[in-house]
Amino acid sequence: MIDDLHAARDGALAEIEAATDLDELTRLDARLLGKKGELADFKKRLGGLSTPDEKRTAGQAVNEVLAAVGAALARRRDELTVAARAAAVEAERLDLTEFVSAPTRGHAHVVTQAWERLEDVFIGLGFQVVEGPEVETDWYNFEALNMAEGHPARGEFDTLFVDHVAPGGTPGHTLLRTHTSPVQIRAMQAMEPPIYVVAPGRVFRRDTPDATHMPVFHQIEGLVIDKGITMAHLAGTIEAFTKAFFGGDFSSRLRPSYFPFTEPSAEFDIHRGGGDWLELGGCGMVHPNVLRAGGIDPEEWTGFAFGFGIDRMAVMRHEIADLREMYTNDLRFIEQF
Ligand code: PHE
Repeated sequence: MIDDLHAARDGALAEIEAATDLDELTRLDARLLGKKGELADFKKRLGGLSTPDEKRTAGQAVNEVLAAVGAALARRRDELTVAARAAAVEAERLDLTEFVSAPTRGHAHVVTQAWERLEDVFIGLGFQVVEGPEVETDWYNFEALNMAEGHPARGEFDTLFVDHVAPGGTPGHTLLRTHTSPVQIRAMQAMEPPIYVVAPGRVFRRDTPDATHMPVFHQIEGLVIDKGITMAHLAGTIEAFTKAFFGGDFSSRLRPSYFPFTEPSAEFDIHRGGGDWLELGGCGMVHPNVLRAGGIDPEEWTGFAFGFGIDRMAVMRHEIADLREMYTNDLRFIEQF
């Protein structure tokens, strides 16, 4: 009987070792150790043994086998539980290495870059940066700038009007500013001279987009009001700015022109070495009527103003062929700057 018992034990241990999942092990447990199980049978057979000695020895052997099989089942159950948990963890695992290389970071738009560099250059020349509203009244945009109603120059600013009627006002007097020059008036009203300001910002005109025009574009306005300011200060400032922004091999020139809000007026151009002259913007001595509109006494103070397109500057600096390209949001274009 002892031999049978040991054979049954060895078979049971081998089966336990071979079990590959917990369900299989549970079935094995019932088959081996259950009331009607294979090993329980040996207990019954003990009664058939003849001597007490035999019964005791065999009884001990059966108990040892039952204990050994029970221990083997417990150990195998632990092993399979650990393996099952590891498999579940593996199955539910999140791949945190998926974005191991961070997406490319963006950068400021070409026009914003030019805008910020312009501010830096003028701050370096002693100017202060100011701002004005994009939606203006025709008084700030035209009248205060020496363009009364019916002035022919108004027609040159293809103006976009806004439905809004100012409190106490009449329809048709609210507009999207066509240039940054109304900020001259706002600065004169808000500050005491001497005034040294630049006002960058967005401006609007009723234009069809083409290679050199956009209905929404950007300008930077400059205004200086002080005692004894002359055209020479204007020319010197434009020249200093040109060299600081474009580089020492660039120079500038003024060409006579006309603006209602400056007298005399000029257009200024820049060029590098012996290259072609490129028109940048307008400028001139602030017209006495404009000083008065800003609440400044023209007998005591004089000043100059200038204004030019920022988009244009970006186009020139980067040799961009078509203004519209700057606003298509095409990454192949944007990533070059
Ligand atoms: N505001 C003018 C324009 O938009 C430019 C300018 C500004 C001219 C200041 C003279 C003085 O064309």
